[in-house]
Amino acid sequence: MFAALLRRLRTDSPRWARNLGLVREHFAIATRHARVRAEWAPHLRASREAILAAAVRCARRERALVIGAGDCLDVPVAELAEQFAQVTLADIVVSATAKDFAKRFPGRVRCVQWDATGALARLAVLRDALAAPDVPKLFAEADPGPPPGGEPDFVVSANCLSQLGLVPAHSLPAAEKDKGLPDRCAKVAARRHLDWLAERRTAVRVLLVDAARLDLAPDGVTIQKTETLYTRFGLRPPDRTWRWNLAPIPEWSADFHRVHDVGVWIDGPLA
Ligand SMILES: C[S@@+](CC[C@H](N)C(=O)[O-])C[C@H]1O[C@@H](n2cnc3c(N)ncnc32)[C@H](O)[C@@H]1O
Repeated sequence: MFAALLRRLRTDSPRWARNLGLVREHFAIATRHARVRAEWAPHLRASREAILAAAVRCARRERALVIGAGDCLDVPVAELAEQFAQVTLADIVVSATAKDFAKRFPGRVRCVQWDATGALARLAVLRDALAAPDVPKLFAEADPGPPPGGEPDFVVSANCLSQLGLVPAHSLPAAEKDKGLPDRCAKVAARRHLDWLAERRTAVRVLLVDAARLDLAPDGVTIQKTETLYTRFGLRPPDRTWRWNLAPIPEWSADFHRVHDVGVWIDGPLA
């Protein structure tokens, strides 16, 4: 209890990130992980292995950048710190865990508060005044700017793509009347992030993402499947894929398990 409170106090974020629901989402992930740790373990292990397998492709090992580092559950920070001169852990919510890594590897690991969409500060200012059609436009036109820490040799988008537009859009008054708005914002912000990643041409790029969402009955039969990426962006089949038992019964529902098909796409130079 006291440890959890301390972690909250050591977590940094801009005030507007709280208004946009990002801080609440950060702690929701942490508390769910604490409840279903065993179910998440294979997914987290597979994520860390995929990231390290991709890092082998790097000829230059000056800078690694992790976007959406969060609590670094799926990120092999210590191993990256051994391989790269500088590891930047970027997130809009800088966690106590990320800060602990920076302390453990002084000068090699650093935490940066950074908005991967480039839209959120403005979105927060305009949040009450924005009409629904203006919100996706704001995400489409925003510029996240250059990568924090300088152009990386290795960049990991760590399971944040589907959240970039979705979480903040859910918090907007405009979304109360327009239920499809968060999904439209998610799509535009994800497209923008993929384009930004593709601009990092000299880097090995790892996109780690929930590619489909499934609801499974207690006997394992699929009740519903929603593709989140393949169909929307026409990506090639992923280089690696596995299932993440995200919310086993009764986490999300008493009737079904919420499961993600995770995909990993690795692009960029070969060593
Ligand atoms: C599903 S969590 C990823 C978990 C994290 N990789 C871990 O291992 O704990 C998504 C992360 O993306 C971050 N995020 C969401 N929107 C962001 C944005 N616009 N810029 C930077 N990070 C963002 C969230 O704060 C959260 O930590």
